[in-house]
Amino acid sequence: MAAGVPAVEATGLVKRFGGLTAVDHVDLQVDVGEVYGILGPNGAGKTTFLRMLFGLIRPDAGELRLFGRSWAQAGPAMLDGVAGFIESPRFYPYLSGRRNLALLAGLDGGGADSRIDEVLTLVDLAGRAGDKVGGYSFGMRQRLGVAASLLRDPRLLVLDEPANGLDPAGIRDMRALVKRLAAGGLTVLLSSHNMDEVEEICDNVTIMRTGRVVYHGSISQLRAQAPDPSHRLATSDDDRALDLAIDRPGVAVSVHPDGGLALRAQPAAADAYIITLGRAGIAVRALGLEVAPLESLFFMLTEPDRPAADMPAADMPTADISAADISAPRPHARAGGTR
Ligand SMILES: Nc1ncnc2c1ncn2[C@@H]1O[C@H](COP(=O)(O)OP(=O)(O)OP(=O)(O)O)[C@@H](O)[C@H]1O
Ligand SMILES: [Mg+2]
Repeated sequence: MAAGVPAVEATGLVKRFGGLTAVDHVDLQVDVGEVYGILGPNGAGKTTFLRMLFGLIRPDAGELRLFGRSWAQAGPAMLDGVAGFIESPRFYPYLSGRRNLALLAGLDGGGADSRIDEVLTLVDLAGRAGDKVGGYSFGMRQRLGVAASLLRDPRLLVLDEPANGLDPAGIRDMRALVKRLAAGGLTVLLSSHNMDEVEEICDNVTIMRTGRVVYHGSISQLRAQAPDPSHRLATSDDDRALDLAIDRPGVAVSVHPDGGLALRAQPAAADAYIITLGRAGIAVRALGLEVAPLESLFFMLTEPDRPAADMPAADMPTADISAADISAPRPHARAGGTR
C-alpha cells in the first residue's frame, strides 16, 4: 500500500431518509494502523455511516474511499481487505462455531479455511468451537462474528457497537480482543455509544450527534478538554464547607440540586480542599465521583439541552457547544465557590 493513503477517507458524506438527514456532511479519516472510534448516542448516524462504508446503501452526496479506492472507480473491489459486521453477526444456530466458519471460508475461497483454528484461538473460542452456535452466549456470538471477519485476513476491521448488549465480562473480553488485534497491526474502525470504551481502546475519535460531527480529534486532546471531575459531597456543615471554597483556586463547589454539595475539581485540588475541611472541624460524610470528565464532555457535546441537574457544577456550560468551541483548548478559569 502506498504510504500515507488512509484506510478510510470520507468527505462531505450525506445520507438522507426522506426528510431526515441521518449522516450530514461527515468528514472522517482513519489512518492505517490506528483504532478509530465513531461515538454517538442512539440515532446519531453511526450505523448509517458504516452501512455506506460497506456499500449496503449509497450516499446521497460526498465521497468515500477505502485504501484510496472509491466505489465509482473500483466497484465491489473497493471492499478488498475490509471485513466486519453491522449490528450483530448472524450464524446457523444448529451448526457449530467451527462449521459456520468453514461454510464462510468456503464462500470466501482463497485459503480462508486454513485460518479457522488461528482465528478461533484469537477470539478465545477454540475450546467451544465444536459446540452449536445456538448454545453460545451473546458475547460468544459477537466474538465468532469477529472471527468470521478475520478469516478474510483483512487490513481494516469495521465493527458496529461490538460490545453492545454484552455483560461486564463480555465487554471486557471484547475490548481486550480489539486491543489484541490492534497490537497485531490491524486497523480498526468501531462505533460505540460508550465514552469509556472509546477512551480505553481508540487512538482517535469522531463524536456524532443527529448526523453531524460535533468533535473529532485524539483521545488525549479530548481528555485535555474535558471538564474537571464532578463529585457529590456530603459534610457535617455544608454552609461552612461552601464558605471555605470561595476564592479557592481549582475548586468549584455549589449546592447540589439533589441535596448536599457538588464539588468539581482535579484530584489534587479536591484533596487539598477536603483536608482544609477536616482542619476546620468539618467532617466529610460522603464523597463520590458523580460524572467522569469525559462522560461530562460527551453529554455536553451530544445533549446540549440536558438539564443542569445532571451536570451539577456551576461552571458547566449549558449552551450549544460546537466543534469550533471545543477544538481550541479552553483556559481552566475557576470561579472558586459558588452558592
Ligand atoms: N432505513 C432507514 N429508513 C429511515 N430512517 C432510517 C433508516 N436507517 C436509519 N434511519 C434513521 O437515521 C438516523 C440514524 O440512525 P442510525 O441507525 O445510523 O443511528 P446509530 O447512531 O447507529 O444509532 P444506535 O446507537 O441506536 O445504533 C435515525 O434517526 C434513524 O431512525
Ligand atoms: Mg447503530
